[in-house]
Amino acid sequence: MSTTFAVEPQELQPGVALAMPVPEAQPVIQLDHIHKIYTMGDVEVHALRGVSLTIRPGEFVAIMGASGSGKSTTMNILGCLDRPTRGTYILDGEDVSQMSKDERADIRCQKIGFVFQGFNLLSRTSALENVELPMLYLGVDSAQRHARAMEALAAVGLAGREQNHPNQLSGGQQQRVAVARSLVNHPALILADEPTGNLDSRTSVEVMEIFQRLNRERGITLVLVTHEHDIAEYADRIIVFKDGKIKSDHAVENPRNAAEELKNLPVISDDDDDEE
Ligand SMILES: Nc1ncnc2c1ncn2[C@@H]1O[C@H](COP(=O)(O)OP(=O)(O)OP(=O)(O)O)[C@@H](O)[C@H]1O
Ligand SMILES: [Mg+2]
Repeated sequence: MSTTFAVEPQELQPGVALAMPVPEAQPVIQLDHIHKIYTMGDVEVHALRGVSLTIRPGEFVAIMGASGSGKSTTMNILGCLDRPTRGTYILDGEDVSQMSKDERADIRCQKIGFVFQGFNLLSRTSALENVELPMLYLGVDSAQRHARAMEALAAVGLAGREQNHPNQLSGGQQQRVAVARSLVNHPALILADEPTGNLDSRTSVEVMEIFQRLNRERGITLVLVTHEHDIAEYADRIIVFKDGKIKSDHAVENPRNAAEELKNLPVISDDDDDEE
């Protein structure tokens, strides 16, 4: 099990001066001059042109930018699905830029949770089995798998829905199963590429509420790609890509609060519309 949160928050005691600087937590992500060139026949596409980026434990980062600007290419590298052509990537203290495919697959299981626009659930298995799957790869025993999957489903508001198959769940519920699945191996990092792209507006806020809660209560580091400003403003930091480079990178002064907003949104409960 991997945790990045090596540095305990220091408690300030009255009258005790901070003699030593507070050690900064080791970054979860450190990209240094990353280039990615896709070669198709004799055509080269220079998708990333020198991206350097540090993300620390507990950050909630939104990545934006026009179509083709390199967002998914960056996410694929961050998620160890692909390797940079040049440059280094240190993930949770380990240089993963030169690792083999198998080594990257191991790192992926241990350190990264993924949430995709299209949910990517296995259709013939229950919500519970979908959430148990990543633990199967790590050899977690069945009692633990069951307990952790139940806990993760409860954390995303799906207690009681464990036996439903994806086609018996609404889009928002399916995405919540995917979020639960991304959590169960206690990843150092959750990556979400357009997680609300297929959802209506209230359901999007519900999913963002879960992300904000996981980030704030469990300190989970989140990187999320979105085309929508409204969604990016739930994050604490927005990075904008342009033509394979970072165009801007700034903190969000007053991030939106999904939990507060939900209180004022009309409830169209997705639990009511399917007969049981
Ligand atoms: N597998 C690939 N082979 C060749 N070129 C690719 C490949 N993947 C991406 N590209 C190219 O790299 C550039 C960046 O693509 P990328 O998918 O990262 O953009 P994006 O910012 O995610 O766009 P979108 O918002 O449309 O998802 C584009 O020019 C794209 O055509
Ligand atoms: Mg993309």
